[in-house]
Amino acid sequence: MEWIEVTGGRPLAGRIRPAAAKNSVLPLLAATLLCAQPCTLRGVPPLADVRASLALLEAVGAAVRFAGGCVYTAPRPVSGRVPPGPAAAMRGSVFYLAPLLMRAGRVELPLPGGCCLGPRPIDIHLDGLSAMGAHVETRPAAVALLRRGALHAVDYTLRLPSVGATLTLMMAAACAQGHSILRGAACEPEIADAAAFLNAAGAQIEGAGTPVLRIGGAGGLLPGGACRTPLPDRIAAATYAAAAACAGGCVTVEGCPPALLEPFLNFLSAAGCTVTARAGDFTVARDPAAPLRGGAALCTGAWPGFATDTAPLAAAVLLAAQGASTVHDSLFENRFACTAGFAALGAGAQARGRDLVIPGGAALHGAAVTAPDLRGGAALVTAALGAAGRTLVADPGHIRRGYADLPGDLAALGARCRYLAPQEAEKIVEVP
Ligand code: EPZ
Repeated sequence: MEWIEVTGGRPLAGRIRPAAAKNSVLPLLAATLLCAQPCTLRGVPPLADVRASLALLEAVGAAVRFAGGCVYTAPRPVSGRVPPGPAAAMRGSVFYLAPLLMRAGRVELPLPGGCCLGPRPIDIHLDGLSAMGAHVETRPAAVALLRRGALHAVDYTLRLPSVGATLTLMMAAACAQGHSILRGAACEPEIADAAAFLNAAGAQIEGAGTPVLRIGGAGGLLPGGACRTPLPDRIAAATYAAAAACAGGCVTVEGCPPALLEPFLNFLSAAGCTVTARAGDFTVARDPAAPLRGGAALCTGAWPGFATDTAPLAAAVLLAAQGASTVHDSLFENRFACTAGFAALGAGAQARGRDLVIPGGAALHGAAVTAPDLRGGAALVTAALGAAGRTLVADPGHIRRGYADLPGDLAALGARCRYLAPQEAEKIVEVP
């Protein structure tokens, strides 16, 4: 168990550049298996999920090296059997379904882990691959897929625009025999990023970023390799913006087009922050002495809607704002597990199913809280920046899955925030 100590009440100031997006890096790592030539990913942060992906790649026999922020891969025969450890460590293990099926002809994947946001089925991944000719067997805690010969092209409609399933089926179709059409696809920027990577390696994908993808299949592995710097992490960028809103001060987020998080920046602006958007960066400023405005009624949705991963961060901003607010998450049933932590900080927020009801106007104070998941944990750290006194966030390992060093990032902006050394943490281990 790691502990993060936050002492609130200090305004932030400075500039920060988010690393490459976790949710782009993870599918790209898996997609390297589809390439017949070496690949390089640049600017890769040392996240726990990245390390779990590298461990998964090594466990199946892939040639992979992580050095100086770059991941280098080289083609090599691999096994389709994914060990339970890396599979359970993250949701991103589902991205290996299609690549291992293509590379090894079969895949056995223990059901993926990741944040407990409620049920996270993978039926669309499996149904789409089955439509392409894969034989799919579901077991109690694993799935096994087999193909005989090449997968065949499909005209397939996703029953909902799942990000992960779009990536799975896009990768599979890029290596199938013939021309596929995927309808009802997710449009998140990470899809276009993955399509650009695959196209650089020889795939023929058109329409990424729209609901209809037209994909010419290679009938096997992609002939080339690719070198790419994945897009910046829009959720990390939103975290820094939320931190500026909670603590007050002025933070510029560099190297991240504001269009990647427009609904979140519009929300901060409506709450009373001064948001200055430029082509490739943006600034969020707030007078720490002036209370924010509540009265928000937010509802998350697929791109270009209000990103579900930013919902707990928005809630953190609204806890002390003047006026009641609501946040509804349309994607995940248990998005607001961080509510217990918000309550310990002095906010009267209540989670009712997919809705979070926030009375607003809370005078937040430090407390001992627990990170329930990745973004909920980041939201607790962010809220604590605006709380009086010391907050201790116990984290069983969620936050490092998505941020290499969130306390370090915030400290660089002037926050009093740090990971406690193990000896210090031992002294406070009796804190609930
Ligand atoms: C990705 O998850 C991200 N994870 C999530 O980020 C993010 O919250 C989510 O997309 C939505 O933007 C990764 O990229 C690793 P979905 P994913 O498939 O692909 C349902 C973070 O904190 N569904 O778009 O799992 C599903 O239950 C994480 O960085 C099915 O029913 O999300 C959910 O309600 C958390 N059947 C909805 O679709 C399926 O086969 C959207 O999920 C697949 C999904």
